[in-house]
Amino acid sequence: MYLKKFRCFFENENFVGLNRFCCFCSGAQGEFAGLRAIKSYHEAQGQGNRNICLIPISAHGTNPASAQMAGLQVEPINVCKDGTIDIAHLKDKVQW
Ligand SMILES: Cc1ncc(COP(=O)(O)O)c(C=O)c1O
Repeated sequence: MYLKKFRCFFENENFVGLNRFCCFCSGAQGEFAGLRAIKSYHEAQGQGNRNICLIPISAHGTNPASAQMAGLQVEPINVCKDGTIDIAHLKDKVQW
């Protein structure tokens, strides 16, 4: 249900331009645009307090930089030796 609402928000005509624009973005520009859109979505829902971005320490280096530039608080998530997410650490960081 949450994902459905989220998708509807991005399919809104206000975001058509952004969607087209993102097709021409570099990786870092695209992730920044996406993070700004996510932040704007939460703010538009009256949930601007949802500003924490969980990022695995194995993520591309621009990910935490983009999140910070987008006004989000970065919380690094550990990864296991095989490169997968440390689920125990993730669960510890997630607020239900
Ligand atoms: C997640 C992610 N962010 C950023 C980049 C950097 O892309 P660019 O140099 O096009 O900004 C890459 C490139 O692979 C990427 O995978």
